Amino acid sequence: MFQKGLKDIVAVHTHIADVDGDKGELRYRGKLIGELVPEHSFEEMMYFLLYGHFPNEKELASLQQQMVEGRKLPKYIKEIINALPQEISLMDAMRTVISAFCNRTFKNQLIEEQAIHLIAALPVITAHHYRNNKALPIIEPNPELSHTANYLWMLTGTVPNPVHIEALETYLTLTMEHGMNASTFAGRVTISTESDLTAAVTSALGAMKGPLHGGAPAGVIDLLNEIGDETNISKVIEQKLASGERIMGFGHRIYKTEDPRSILLRDKCISMAGEDKWLDLATAAEKEIIALLETYKPGRKLYTNVEYYAAAIMRSIDMPPELFTPTFSVARIVGWTAHAIEQQNDNTIFRPQSIYIGTKS
Ligand code: ACO
Repeated sequence: MFQKGLKDIVAVHTHIADVDGDKGELRYRGKLIGELVPEHSFEEMMYFLLYGHFPNEKELASLQQQMVEGRKLPKYIKEIINALPQEISLMDAMRTVISAFCNRTFKNQLIEEQAIHLIAALPVITAHHYRNNKALPIIEPNPELSHTANYLWMLTGTVPNPVHIEALETYLTLTMEHGMNASTFAGRVTISTESDLTAAVTSALGAMKGPLHGGAPAGVIDLLNEIGDETNISKVIEQKLASGERIMGFGHRIYKTEDPRSILLRDKCISMAGEDKWLDLATAAEKEIIALLETYKPGRKLYTNVEYYAAAIMRSIDMPPELFTPTFSVARIVGWTAHAIEQQNDNTIFRPQSIYIGTKS
């Protein structure tokens, strides 16, 4: 059987996430994200995805300590970052630097501990290269801050606003896992050869870089910029639809109803109303755009996808667009590592067939 792009082919059985596009449900280890995300921190959610249960007090304290240790990049890793030329993009830098993690870095850690180490290190690498590129002084990690707060702290060098921390944390926990997407699959294929976790995450970062996957919400920012204010919504959208353009942030290959992540991000935007004009514009524009899509594309079931409100939130917390895909990776590394561990625990090497269709002589 041949399916281009393995579309609709089931490649693995997993306990990690369930994406139901018809019902618009996303579950992490059987639990609806709508119930999990408001109740749990990034750290608790990553532990849940990696270990299959929420940490007790002692486990959480130990996890936080491991995260703080993981933020301390070894000298040779810092030297690699500092040696990178400025024109290397953040995604290229993240992939290059992560690939240098090895036994010397991990010092006999179990694979779950290596996962925690890489999850803690990735935002530090991102912030370090970002600030190098801007010729800004490097900000050392702050052990008193949570994972999300420390990421903002290291990017900006200022104590982050609690509203911004909460908004970013909502985005990170909602996007840390999403079933058998391209980057997660790339990671599973790599570790299925009995390669290691570093190689799996390096492969996943390579796959995430492509615009068809980690393209991120930059197109939505352009759209909101073009709309500018609420009186222009229908004019701009009708022009686009009439000329056959797609509206960024709407429609999804799997979700044929509202994307559950989008619903939660919208709630976050509404709770932040007045914080930023982009949040207000995004919430005001949604209903009008959906109605216009129904007029121009009847029956196609086009709703906001995760990128729409993610864009509004990123913009409102002053996250520059060049950091969108890296920040998506800072979240999704949790899913990559959880899947790599699952693959390693019950492994069969991926080796699909191909059909030769060239000439034969
Ligand atoms: N705006 C206008 N029309 C749309 C849109 C949109 N955003 N999305 C789909 N349509 C229309 C198509 O033109 C097509 O119409 P037709 O039947 O008249 O030809 C119909 O809906 C079906 O389109 P497909 O491309 O077949 O739908 P699919 O589900 O495969 O596409 C996709 C999903 C690629 C996300 C699409 O909805 C799209 O291009 N959206 C805009 C870009 C975007 O927001 N991407 C982020 C996705 S979320 C993520 O990747 C994490």
